Amino acid sequence: MNAGLVHRWTGPFSCAANNALSVHRLEQVPFLPMSDTIDHWMRLAARLAVRGHGHVEPNPMVGCIILDRSGALVGMGHHRVVGGPHAEVEALRKAGAKARGGTVIVTLEPCTNHGRTPPCVESLRSAGILQVFYGERDPNPEAAGGEAWLCGAGIPTQQRSTPQTRELIAPFAKRTATGLPWVIAKWAQTVDGRIATRSHDSQWISCERSRAMVHRERGRVDVILTGIGTVMRDDPLLTCRSGSPCRNAVRVVVDPELNIPLDRKIVMTAKTHRTIVTTLPKAFSEKSEHRRALGDLGVGCMKQHSDFRGLLEALRREFDASTVLVEAGGGLTGALLREGLIDEAWVFVGPRLLGDETAFGPARGFTTPRIQDGIPMRLLSVRQRGTDALLHYRFGG
Ligand SMILES: NC(=O)c1ccc[n+]([C@@H]2O[C@H](COP(=O)([O-])OP(=O)(O)OC[C@H]3O[C@@H](n4cnc5c(N)ncnc54)[C@H](OP(=O)(O)O)[C@@H]3O)[C@@H](O)[C@H]2O)c1
Repeated sequence: MNAGLVHRWTGPFSCAANNALSVHRLEQVPFLPMSDTIDHWMRLAARLAVRGHGHVEPNPMVGCIILDRSGALVGMGHHRVVGGPHAEVEALRKAGAKARGGTVIVTLEPCTNHGRTPPCVESLRSAGILQVFYGERDPNPEAAGGEAWLCGAGIPTQQRSTPQTRELIAPFAKRTATGLPWVIAKWAQTVDGRIATRSHDSQWISCERSRAMVHRERGRVDVILTGIGTVMRDDPLLTCRSGSPCRNAVRVVVDPELNIPLDRKIVMTAKTHRTIVTTLPKAFSEKSEHRRALGDLGVGCMKQHSDFRGLLEALRREFDASTVLVEAGGGLTGALLREGLIDEAWVFVGPRLLGDETAFGPARGFTTPRIQDGIPMRLLSVRQRGTDALLHYRFGG
């Protein structure tokens, strides 16, 4: 497939320090893609990258495209599994000898370090790649510097950041900068923004297809976080019951007073699905008998931290958590939002309207007299799933 050829490149490559060498190399490059052509391939590379979700974390999701000298697609690859070959290596493998003299379009700057796999920059040079476009700089200082390395090797290299590549790198960039896992809140609401009726009925607001998607996602995260309110009202299992999970999420219940009854489904299944309850230090010591009974059923107890940031740090430390899925009511979701700890929201809007102002909303605990006092969110996508609309939002940045 040829996505459009031009003979004159108008954008500068960034190998300023190596200009003479770069210009010399550029003359040998028979195919110079136009700016919108690169964006087209970068979007495809980003779509490939997403296939690694759930398999590659704590690594970033990365996708790569290789075009031959004439601009024809000869290789595609994505980072499939942590510790496995990087996207560039996968794509080079597919392209074989056709990669020589070709163009690489990759969502992340090629790595320079000997980690679990050899440096991608060396693989690209050995394969005879003539030019590289990458989406985002590598936030990991140990692997960064791919652009400078490639330019030093006489391979013109240019950053082409796009909205898709920025979304892809965000969880990894956050983990690298803060040590905190990526937090996704999910809820199902009616058209008038209610997650449960005044009598706490919430099953089911979303359709079967939406619920199947949530099941799949549970198998791709490290922790599923909920509150005691949800456990008491809905008695959820919070397990992945769709396909084969690529991760075994730990279920964590925020239960300040250690009130969780022994007959809840989440407790009864704790021997097969790891389950932790976090509770205030006072309840932790005063309710030692209940703690023991929970322990006999396989539930671990953890002292609650002074804030939820502390809890996320502990989840990272104790369970190597990279991703947390919050499936809670307005109490817990609101508390996490007040601390600015939720990165992403999936809102399933079911086709019903309650018209009852005492029904429950997805977050509480705020005072917001003016619209501009509300938490700003950025809409990433709108999709139809069965009879629902799925709205995908990003908080902050
Ligand atoms: N439609 C949906 O997608 C969906 C999903 C889940 C749940 N729900 C509905 O939501 C309702 C339950 O909501 P909920 O708000 O009662 O329960 P919840 O959010 O599941 O849990 C609330 C728990 O979090 C604790 N909490 C809140 N802020 C805290 C903080 N700053 N520090 C420590 N702990 C804190 C609360 O403690 P305190 O008791 O001390 O405040 C409470 O125990 C149910 O009706 C359920 O059906 C709907």
